Amino acid sequence: AIEDVAARQDASAATTGAIAGGYRARSADAHRQLERMTDLRKDEWVRIGLANLAVRERASYESQFEAGFLSSNVYRIVGEHLEDIVDCLRAEGVDKHERAVERSLEFGRDFHFSMYLQRRWNAMGPLSRRVAERFEVLSAMKFALREVLEDAVPQVGEMVGSEAAAAAREHLEARLDAVADALKGLELQYPDYAQQMERRLLERGALRLEAQSYKRMHADALITGEVYGDLEARVREKEVALARVPRLDLGLDPARLVGDVPLFKELPEDRIREIAQLLKPRLVLPGETVVRAGDAGDAMYFISNGALRVYVEPLPVQLGSGDFFGELALITRQPRNADVVTVGFADLLVLRTVDFQRLMEGNPDAKARIEAVAKERLAQTQEATALDSGADT
Ligand code: CMP
Repeated sequence: AIEDVAARQDASAATTGAIAGGYRARSADAHRQLERMTDLRKDEWVRIGLANLAVRERASYESQFEAGFLSSNVYRIVGEHLEDIVDCLRAEGVDKHERAVERSLEFGRDFHFSMYLQRRWNAMGPLSRRVAERFEVLSAMKFALREVLEDAVPQVGEMVGSEAAAAAREHLEARLDAVADALKGLELQYPDYAQQMERRLLERGALRLEAQSYKRMHADALITGEVYGDLEARVREKEVALARVPRLDLGLDPARLVGDVPLFKELPEDRIREIAQLLKPRLVLPGETVVRAGDAGDAMYFISNGALRVYVEPLPVQLGSGDFFGELALITRQPRNADVVTVGFADLLVLRTVDFQRLMEGNPDAKARIEAVAKERLAQTQEATALDSGADT
């Protein structure tokens, strides 16, 4: 940088050399001193690097917030997660701080409470807001981590050395991957909303550039104050419109979800409406155990959208949109015979035991189909058990 300034000033090579040389000597001296501090172990350098990068991450949230890309609520949430990560890093070191990183991606207490409200009272508003908030939180994290990885990691390397910087980079890359995965899961579940959010983000970015450009034109006296004021007012109007977070439709409308299940799809509309009244829509989270082996059965489930894994022997079976599970316990009155766990997000329709009887009585076709599948599954279970005991003897 000194040499660049010198070139612009037409400074002589001797003066430039003398000044830049002084800095070079100080820098080399500092590096030598650092190398002598061998009592500082490598992971401590990594920790210093990561702590420094966390400061840069915070700065990224700050500028995202100031530019109007983050609501104050989301700004607070990402700040709290980062604080937790830094506290953990300080108190427990590099390896153990991974726990705080995981925590930052978990569905928190607020989220679970809003799920409870939806399940218990069919209240969609709180859950829809929490899902929209998660979209914003994850997007903000992804943006900040990318910025830090691109801009800050190389600079931190000069301070903590290239080896520690490479380790810090690995940590941040793993975090970025986890954030991107979580965001991908949401995008798959709510593709239309994801597209809306993407558009909104880009529109805001473009609007900022537009505003900066007017400001420059005004400063360069290319436009009058009056014209500038007029243009600025229009930008502000668009900004206000974009500040509103679009509403997220959870898509948990029973009649529509019932139409996604082949078992019911062909039925006349009034029948579908009748069945829809028996079924309760439910959003389930990635990795959620919906049915646990050994539990008593109180409901069966139709998958209107998503994938779940049934943990049966010898290998888990994957079920997808249109399939159902949890029928065995209701038919055989035996405990659940397997864990059923979601792969990503999924929309389910829950049919409680009492309503199960009503549905079976009123729909002979559905009854026959459910019973046929149940029989097949039972046979597979018995086969697997027989194989198992065969292997034992
Ligand atoms: P239930 O026993 O109530 O709870 C676990 C569920 O897993 C079970 O009902 C079935 O719906 C489902 N299940 C059991 N075995 C299989 C299988 N072999 N293939 C697919 N699903 C199964």
